[in-house]
Amino acid sequence: MRLSTSVARIATAAAILFATNVHALQKVTRAGRYLYTDDGNRFYIKGVAYQPQGVTSTDPNNPFPEPSSFTDPLADSAGCARDIPFLQQLSVNAIRVYSVNSSLNHDSCMQALSAAGIYTILDLSIPLNGSIDRSNPAWTTNLLDLYLTTIDVFSKYDNMLAYNIGNEVIVDSNGTAAAPYIKAAARDVKAYLTSKNFQGLVGYAAIDQSPDLLIPLANYLSCDANTDSIDLFGLNNYEWCGDDTFAAAYANIEGAFAGYNVAAYFSEFGCITQPPRLWTEVQALFSDQMSPVWSGGLAFSYFPAESGQGEFGMVTISGNTVTPNADFTRLVAQYGNITAPNTPSKSDAGAGTYPSCPAANSTWLASTTLPPTPDDTACACAVNNLSCQFTPQTTNTTAIVGQLIDAACGSLGGAGGNCNDIGGSGSAGTYGRFSYCDPNSKLSFIMTEFYEATSRNAQSCNFAGNATINKNAPSSVSAVNAAVSQCLSKSQGTFTPSAPGTPAATGGSGGGGGGSGSSSTPKSSSAALGRAGFEGAFGIGAMLVAAVVGGVWTLA
Ligand SMILES: *[C@@H]1O[C@H](CO)[C@@H](O)[C@H](O)[C@H]1NC(C)=O
Ligand SMILES: *[C@@H]1O[C@H](CO)[C@@H](O)[C@H](O)[C@H]1NC(C)=O
Ligand SMILES: *[C@@H]1O[C@H](CO)[C@@H](O)[C@H](O)[C@H]1NC(C)=O
Ligand SMILES: *[C@@H]1O[C@H](CO)[C@@H](O)[C@H](O)[C@H]1NC(C)=O
Ligand SMILES: *[C@@H]1O[C@H](CO)[C@@H](O)[C@H](O)[C@H]1NC(C)=O
Ligand SMILES: *[C@@H]1O[C@H](CO)[C@@H](O)[C@H](O)[C@H]1NC(C)=O
Ligand SMILES: *[C@@H]1O[C@H](CO)[C@@H](O)[C@H](O)[C@H]1NC(C)=O
Ligand SMILES: *[C@@H]1O[C@H](CO)[C@@H](O)[C@H](O)[C@H]1NC(C)=O
Repeated sequence: MRLSTSVARIATAAAILFATNVHALQKVTRAGRYLYTDDGNRFYIKGVAYQPQGVTSTDPNNPFPEPSSFTDPLADSAGCARDIPFLQQLSVNAIRVYSVNSSLNHDSCMQALSAAGIYTILDLSIPLNGSIDRSNPAWTTNLLDLYLTTIDVFSKYDNMLAYNIGNEVIVDSNGTAAAPYIKAAARDVKAYLTSKNFQGLVGYAAIDQSPDLLIPLANYLSCDANTDSIDLFGLNNYEWCGDDTFAAAYANIEGAFAGYNVAAYFSEFGCITQPPRLWTEVQALFSDQMSPVWSGGLAFSYFPAESGQGEFGMVTISGNTVTPNADFTRLVAQYGNITAPNTPSKSDAGAGTYPSCPAANSTWLASTTLPPTPDDTACACAVNNLSCQFTPQTTNTTAIVGQLIDAACGSLGGAGGNCNDIGGSGSAGTYGRFSYCDPNSKLSFIMTEFYEATSRNAQSCNFAGNATINKNAPSSVSAVNAAVSQCLSKSQGTFTPSAPGTPAATGGSGGGGGGSGSSSTPKSSSAALGRAGFEGAFGIGAMLVAAVVGGVWTLA
């Protein structure tokens, strides 16, 4: 009785929350490689990217810079009220949002979108220190906590369609060694969603790139088992320019994905290099020619999005006034003319298969051994036992932590040690025992190793005023080692993460240990992509860290 009472109370609270939402949206789930609503109809993503452009760098060598800031569009209730009539003119059923701030309130926007029949595809990463860094990849407690905190906040909305665990993390052959970290993120996010019975598919959005990289990436993220696979592979595809044809723009990619095992869609489309944008690719994408392989796509972009190629936006906004441009009007016509096939039926779609993972070769470097699930408790336990700790004098540790890790690793190397414990190799499939901890904790770990390597010389625990001796640490190096080993030994495997607790004592979360993809310019045909997406920070000692990656950081 107790149980059913509390269940009833929760149900009532939910009903009040959505009291204005007369037609609750149907849940969208995946069967095999297709998406279906609860009534058994096939679901196609007919969407638009919905994120105001952040501050981007003006690097002349990179026409598609990654943002260093973001504005959460789902926390702007007035903005949503202003824009939803235009989204309805476009007749979209989904938006893609690239970054949100989980500490803000999203009720108004999410409920209004739901009432308008619009689902949300939400990228979990944020600029600077909130995404898997392609130049120094790791899957760490601070990222896991960021992702799960965002999921917790959005799980109450009935229009959550998918959570993207990364956007364009891998952009070249070297970068393919980041794939195990991305797949580990998919594994841990999926385990969390499942354990909480939250709705939402697990997605990834890839840059358009050579099939030698794109196809193994797609296969890798959906190989092995449902529990460590994405549900939804997004391809940011800008191949159809002007009044193109299926044969010229899409036949190759159609063939490449013909046998794919999970749902796939175009997570961005809308080439601007041959204006005007006619959006005739919409007819192709939703036709019976492409519907066996693709579940729709998202046009880029509702908001103005300026790039080296030109303007991707479909409206301009001034205060509360939205002025659509001709791209908008043409997309209204194309999206209004879609009749996508309702086949195959859900029962024919089957449960899905999970092929074995692609083998590594000279262009696909990823090991099939994934890194462990990041463990906050283990990291905090270890950090509390460290004899020298990072005690930053600034709250913006993102700006300094990469630099300090580089410096500390350099000092440690000079004292005969190495940074293997905080590093890892996605190509070798070896992960240092401290590699899943957040950057600030990693820094404390290396500071302690240096301090101990110099026999606790007080001057070794300084780092220009950034480090402090921990008086509560065990009194000898062997006791520190024993305590840290005990903290970490409990957790070097896979488990279902729980909701983020309090951050680790000295660090909690911190800046990404390194540089950015800003030096990795996407190939021009897919260039628009980098526009909205971003990975990793820029400006955090990128060159130093890159050098370190090749040296002490990488486990042999
Ligand atoms: C999220 O919003 C809070 C409250 O406005 C702000 O303090 C915080 O800096 C924001 N976080 C990010 C990552 O923008
Ligand atoms: C890949 O890494 C190697 C060694 O660090 C470097 O020489 C090469 O330029 C890199 N290639 C790309 C495409 O980044
Ligand atoms: C590596 O394997 C992938 C398939 O997993 C393939 O597409 C690619 O061409 C291969 N690279 C080389 C150099 O053989
Ligand atoms: C509407 O779609 C049909 C079928 O895809 C196509 O033949 C027709 O040309 C489209 N109409 C317009 C105005 O684009
Ligand atoms: C230090 O490590 C020991 C052994 O792992 C652990 O029991 C203890 O809780 C840790 N200390 C703190 C303050 O976390
Ligand atoms: C990013 O850095 C800020 C400030 O240093 C910190 O508050 C935040 O927790 C960090 N976020 C992540 C995901 O590491
Ligand atoms: C933190 O530092 C980074 C890197 O220098 C910078 O881009 C960012 O704007 C800073 N954040 C704050 C809140 O000052
Ligand atoms: C801490 O480290 C940063 C980066 O190396 C440096 O700029 C700063 O002066 C150091 N000291 C303090 C007290 O912040």
